[in-house]
Amino acid sequence: MQLRRIGDSQVSSIGLGGMPMSIEGRPDEARSVATIHAALDAGVTLIDTADAYHLYADEVGHNESLIAKALATYGGDTSEVLVATKGGHLRPGDGSWTQDGSPAYLKSACEASLKRLGAEAIGLYQFHRPDPKVPYADSVGAIRDLLDEGKIRMAGISNANPDQIREANDILGGRLVSVQNQFSPAFRSSEPELQVCDQLGIAFLPWSPLGGISNAGDLGSRHAAFATVAQAHGVSPQRVCLAWMLAKSPVVIPIPGASRPESIRDSAAATELVLSAEEIASLDATS
Ligand SMILES: NC(=O)c1ccc[n+]([C@@H]2O[C@H](COP(=O)([O-])OP(=O)(O)OC[C@H]3O[C@@H](n4cnc5c(N)ncnc54)[C@H](OP(=O)(O)O)[C@@H]3O)[C@@H](O)[C@H]2O)c1
Repeated sequence: MQLRRIGDSQVSSIGLGGMPMSIEGRPDEARSVATIHAALDAGVTLIDTADAYHLYADEVGHNESLIAKALATYGGDTSEVLVATKGGHLRPGDGSWTQDGSPAYLKSACEASLKRLGAEAIGLYQFHRPDPKVPYADSVGAIRDLLDEGKIRMAGISNANPDQIREANDILGGRLVSVQNQFSPAFRSSEPELQVCDQLGIAFLPWSPLGGISNAGDLGSRHAAFATVAQAHGVSPQRVCLAWMLAKSPVVIPIPGASRPESIRDSAAATELVLSAEEIASLDATS
């Protein structure tokens, strides 16, 4: 598995997104644990989660607890695994997603995540989404405090624009290590954020890289150019999509979600797929 850098950590160039294992349509726990173990077997050492990846109001942190359990029951070495969680989003249990970016909330959410993950410090803590009710500097200031207090080892942000990336990095005193934004064949408007990350040497984690849970299976029929390149290599269009992202910049680390071992095994193999300049140009040009 090719490695890439997040702050002072070397992680697999393909991460595992935990969301499909905890929200609507999720599998039973045994299949989720098998999926996480399959990712670890394939050399994946970055797992993305959030306290808000749960279904019902009374099970905040469902996905964090699942990941903690899967890591604890894995037979191999997990010392190099970086668990990246987030705070600032909430799910009241009616299917909606709400926000709270207040410093007091973020600090209490981080404490709760820390307990669920059973770690001394959270490896990477990401501010999930700017809250329009709270000045961005206040929310990021809380993340800086958590970093200074040693509750979190590294700090990231998500759903940020280029100005917010620069502002967050300034507030954190140059210690911003990652930006997680939506990026996929159908959603390319995060190119400017990717470029800022590339310039600053900050990891860029595309979320819903395959188009999201309900669209990922149809990637090849939605985007014919990906199916064409996939056919030429005898691999899946999803694998081509991830290899295309990896080729964009050394700071890119996609985090495809999975709820089945086969999905993450196939995605992890994207790290070995080399596309030609012509193929990359054809995928860049397609919509
Ligand atoms: N920061 C944010 O605001 C934010 C928002 C959304 C998501 N995220 C993060 O980003 C991660 C990824 O996004 P996502 O899960 O929404 O969407 P996604 O990665 O675009 O799609 C996930 C779906 O892709 C399928 N899949 C994965 N690899 C495949 C392969 N090689 N071939 C065929 N199908 C494959 C999986 O199917 P199976 O379920 O059948 O395995 C899974 O349900 C999330 O899990 C979460 O960690 C962050």
